[in-house]
Amino acid sequence: MSTQVQTAPPRKILRYRVAPRINHAVLATSFILLLITGLILLWSPVSFLAAGGRSGVLHRLGAVLFMLVPILYLIDDRRGAKELLWDSFHYDKDDVAWLKHILQYFMGRTANMPPQGRLNAGQKFHHASVVIVSAFIVVSGLVLWFAKGSLGADGLAMTATVHDISMLILTVLLVGHLYFTFVYKALPGMTTGYIPEEEARLEHSKWVDSLPDEAPYKVNE
Ligand code: HEM
Repeated sequence: MSTQVQTAPPRKILRYRVAPRINHAVLATSFILLLITGLILLWSPVSFLAAGGRSGVLHRLGAVLFMLVPILYLIDDRRGAKELLWDSFHYDKDDVAWLKHILQYFMGRTANMPPQGRLNAGQKFHHASVVIVSAFIVVSGLVLWFAKGSLGADGLAMTATVHDISMLILTVLLVGHLYFTFVYKALPGMTTGYIPEEEARLEHSKWVDSLPDEAPYKVNE
């Protein structure tokens, strides 16, 4: 008598619904627009592109889009925003253990890393930093936009320094964010919403275990 081994078809896990994917697209587009037009306004080798004032207008458009992101979250994904904020600012003992192995993760190896929830400790650190640094960018940017004339030379220099350094910090964070997106082939999760269960278990086992077994959380490929 032959024994047949039944293997379940591979499953996919819902990581991002439509709303957070739209919000992320607006965030990413606005930030890149801000970065490019900000460099044109600031950096002399490319400042000739600022002639005509278009980059100033585009920079303000980028700023409006960037500030729209929290409002979008309030409208289309309030629960997701709450979860994202809560997760980003709360670290448990597995997160601390995970951070001790961060070099291994940096090299692209997740096997045997301490178990993680929906966000790993590195993502928590990234997202929390984005929230805090973005607040500095927005406040200093609004002051530069609407109250530049009343600042005085020192006030202007200080506000511009806060604005530029905050932008630099977010850019460094973005380089890391893109590096891990590339190393862990994470982009399809953001574009399609789903990631393979096997990968999800390797990187976020506590989160996968907490999800209900039915669709749309877990679907067959
Ligand atoms: C421009 C190109 C970008 C790409 C390709 C990209 C890619 C991604 C990917 C793949 C994820 C999902 C990671 C995962 O959970 O496995 C993600 C999430 C996230 N990214 Fe980006 N990102 C970009 C720009 C940015 C920028 C500029 C920011 C912030 C200024 C940002 C902030 C975030 C945040 C906060 C999340 C978590 C979203 C949530 O949990 O709802 N990203 N990104």
